Amino acid sequence: MVEVGRCKMKSLLIDGGCVLNGQIKVQGSKNAALPIIAASLLFPGKTVLQECPQIRDVELMKNLLECLGCEVSSRENCLSVEAGEAKVNNLPARWVGGMRSSILLLGAMLARFHSAVICYPGGCVIGERPIDLHIMALEKLGAEIHIEGECIIAKATNLKGCKIQFPISSVGATEQAILAACGAQGITDLYNAATEPEVVHLCRFLHSAGIEIQGIGCKHLRITGQSFAKNYPGEIQYTIPADRIVAGTYLLMAAACGGEIYLENGQSQEMEALLAVTRQLGSRVEGSKTDLPGGIFLKAEKNLKAPEKIVTGPYPEFPTDMQPILAATLSKADGESIIEETVFENRFCYVSELEKMGGKFRTDNRRLSVYPAYLHGACVQAADLRGGAALVLAGLIAEGRTKVENAHFIERGYEDIVRDLRKLGAKITSET
Ligand code: UD1
Repeated sequence: MVEVGRCKMKSLLIDGGCVLNGQIKVQGSKNAALPIIAASLLFPGKTVLQECPQIRDVELMKNLLECLGCEVSSRENCLSVEAGEAKVNNLPARWVGGMRSSILLLGAMLARFHSAVICYPGGCVIGERPIDLHIMALEKLGAEIHIEGECIIAKATNLKGCKIQFPISSVGATEQAILAACGAQGITDLYNAATEPEVVHLCRFLHSAGIEIQGIGCKHLRITGQSFAKNYPGEIQYTIPADRIVAGTYLLMAAACGGEIYLENGQSQEMEALLAVTRQLGSRVEGSKTDLPGGIFLKAEKNLKAPEKIVTGPYPEFPTDMQPILAATLSKADGESIIEETVFENRFCYVSELEKMGGKFRTDNRRLSVYPAYLHGACVQAADLRGGAALVLAGLIAEGRTKVENAHFIERGYEDIVRDLRKLGAKITSET
């Protein structure tokens, strides 16, 4: 078992002013990998995942599965889980609390063991992040849930298929309901299900394991519970797709710094909203319009044009995870830009750090105005994953040297941001 409390990177040092040029392969998606790893608990055999990102949250999920009696091994980006001997066990609070996705083990454990105990999950502090919709979905499926202090205690002797209408689109609650529905008797219909690519990949993974799922990628999903019993292939192989947020980060970095980059395995069809904004900034962007691995090419324009107002929202709208990174980019645009954050209520924490670098902003509730500014190097502190990536982008376009402290937040989602950016010509190093 790996001790994940200790992180490799303490801070990042960036010398600004470089143009980015070159070609890289994008790491596998964090938000696709985590629910799929949790889903491997459902099956009595082996699950082999290729292109699994080597990041801290994946280490945490591996440890949690080991606590549940799974044999987990990994070699570079290939992760394998043997869940034949899985059994109920207590999960250490420090690991569960280390990330948001640990809560998905609740649905997976209920489906596999009919009972589960788990403490409240962690994750980035970007808003209240309640789990009421997760609990609502599990209760509809027949689970009895009690909250005792920080502990969620759940029992479900007989999960039964049902109809679940989500009042708002929630990625996590949709994934939770899908996982529990796999172990339920009969059909479960999910209405207003989230359609994010990560939900689609979870469904495709489950389908490859023999579960009948109709409506993949649609707001109405129909899952036939326990259907894998007759179709389970004994071993499941799945390739984790390229991370669309990491891909988007590098595209915006290149758009802001100037240059030409090619992301070999970028999935442009999952990134239309981000690519549209990148084009509004003036960059030339080309990507394959099919599921085939066509990659994404970007050639930056020297002067960035301020885009129309950008509003974050559920897929296929502009992703909230790209919002901080876009805000840093817009400091370089030729006029005022406005971003409206509709998904999380507390996602402008990084703004005060960008202000230390000379950034000019005005926040008004869920609205952020970004004014053109010449950024200069400073010592700044990451407070969450994507806010941390925004500070790295700011460091790349700033004059002089920037130190980003608390870089362990960035390691939660970027496998090796220093390796990737150095390959593109950035002057960036890490301090451990
Ligand atoms: C996932 C992603 C995160 C991304 C977010 C939105 C993972 C590990 N994380 O987070 O990177 O920013 O989707 O695309 O995949 N909500 C409730 N009750 C609930 C659950 C959610 O009110 O029980 C609200 C949230 O507060 C938020 C909105 O629903 O306002 C959307 O959140 P959700 O889609 O659930 O985000 P996560 O699954 O936590």
